[in-house]
Parts: sequence; C-alpha cells; structure tokens
Amino acid sequence: MGEEIIKPKRRKMKGIVLAGGTATRLFPMTATTSKQLLPVYDRQMIFYPLNTLIKAGIKNILIIVAPEHSGQFLNLLGSLLKKHGIHITFEVQSTPKGLAEALTLGENHVGDDNVALILGDNIFEDDFVKQIKDFRSGGHIFAKKVPDPERFGVVKFNKNNRAIEIVEKPKAWISDYAVTGLYLYDNDCVNIAKNIKPSERGEVEITEVNKAYLKKKSLEVTIFEGQWLDAGTPDSLLEAGLIVKEKGISKNFHPILDQAINEFNEELKILSKKKLN
Ligand code: G1P
Repeated sequence: MGEEIIKPKRRKMKGIVLAGGTATRLFPMTATTSKQLLPVYDRQMIFYPLNTLIKAGIKNILIIVAPEHSGQFLNLLGSLLKKHGIHITFEVQSTPKGLAEALTLGENHVGDDNVALILGDNIFEDDFVKQIKDFRSGGHIFAKKVPDPERFGVVKFNKNNRAIEIVEKPKAWISDYAVTGLYLYDNDCVNIAKNIKPSERGEVEITEVNKAYLKKKSLEVTIFEGQWLDAGTPDSLLEAGLIVKEKGISKNFHPILDQAINEFNEELKILSKKKLN
C-alpha cells in the first residue's frame, strides 16, 4: 500500500479592515467623523478597501473602528451587504496600539482561517483578485516604488527580486519600495502578532509580522504599478478624489457593492422625502 497523502486543509480567507485611529492630520474634519468615512470622490473612503476584499470573493469581513465612530459605521454598513451574502461584523478598538493589533483583535473572527488585512484608508487601482484567491500559506505583501520611502515600511530585494529585508520607516535608505496596506497571512499571524513587543514609537508594528514571515522564508511580495493612495492629509485627500475620478476607480467596483450603495442611496431619498412631508 502506498503512503496516504494528507492534503493540507484548504482554509477560507477572512477579511479585516482596520478603520480605527484618530487621524489628527485631518482635523477638523475628523473631529466629527472617522477618516475612513470621509468622501473620496463619490463615496466614503471605506468602500474602496471593502471593494478590494469583496472583488476577491471574501464574504466575512471584520471592520475595526474607534469607539466614538462605531455608531456611524453601523449606520452605513450594519445591514448594507447582508442580503448580498456578505457578512460584516465590527470590533471596537479603544486605543490604537499599532496595525498588528488588528490581528489580535480579530482572533475570533479569523478562527482557523487565513486573513486578508487591509487598511481602511488605502485605495488601490489594481484589484489583486488572483493573489488573494490563490493564497494558501505564509504571508504575501504588496510593494510599490515611492519617492519618499522613509515614510513607510520598506522592502529590499536581491538580484532575483526576492525580499531580503524589511524595515519600518528606515532612517538610512535601503530601497524605494514601500510595503502598502494590504497583507495576506495564514493562520499563524495571530500568534505572531500576540508576541510582538511595541516599537520605539510604542506600536505593535505590522512590519514585525512581515519580518517573521520573511525569516521563515515564507513571505511573497507582489510589486505593482497601479495607483496606491492613502488620504492622510487634506492635500492627499483632495488628490485621492481627483485620481479616483480620473482613473474611474469608483466606476470599477464589484457589482454587488455598487448595487448595495445604490439601494442605500434610494432608501435615504425615500426617508428624506417622508421627513419633508
Ligand atoms: C503603516 C505601516 C507601514 C506601511 C504603511 C502603509 O505606517 O506601519 O509599514 O508602509 O502603514 O500605509 P503608518 O501609517 O502607521 O505610518
């Protein structure tokens, strides 16, 4: 008798959108609402990262929010996608302790599955459906050449384009490739995140999670050319809206999300008419 081949269990991919934080660089706008609920062209910012996950077929998505904005997120997204088979849940992050905290806050949500974590203010022109659907194990990050790498987590490659080093906000230049805010991880990421000590800036850094996968030689990197926008300042928020309009990014949404947004708009119109009468 030949040896029995045990196939590794095919895990599902859960989604996490990290939309907490106070976004002080966008005061006073973010004194009254969350940064991720500010408009980028014709829809709230959070719809862009949600679209990235939904396009890739992810049906269970946890949104991590700040306590003061949880009601607003619930109003917008609480039942918007339910009838389309997309299950959204929320977790409140009382004080933001760093991006890797999303993985520990999301432990129950992730369960035995893999996870696609996306930052709620990251807008991608590319859709990465293939990478997300094909993901099986290890870690997978997405890098883009930028003029100001010192502002980001940065990844350095060898001659064969393999990642060899990752540094958060490098003081001395190592590479022009920023690690952007979409991360695919296998189930180990929760335990990795639990063991991270806060950095000099007092945060549990997502870069430490990436470094752990790099050390295990199980970190894949996709380099991409399309637009990558994070709307962290009034200028970059304005620019993001203009680029989204020019590149038609909001016109290229998954039909389910577009339909849900349109239905929500119609409901709001009916409600406001009723209020007027
Ligand atoms: C964070 C991450 C950094 C990543 C960036 C992407 O930076 O720490 O590795 O490159 O998001 O937007 P932060 O926004 O906390 O400065």
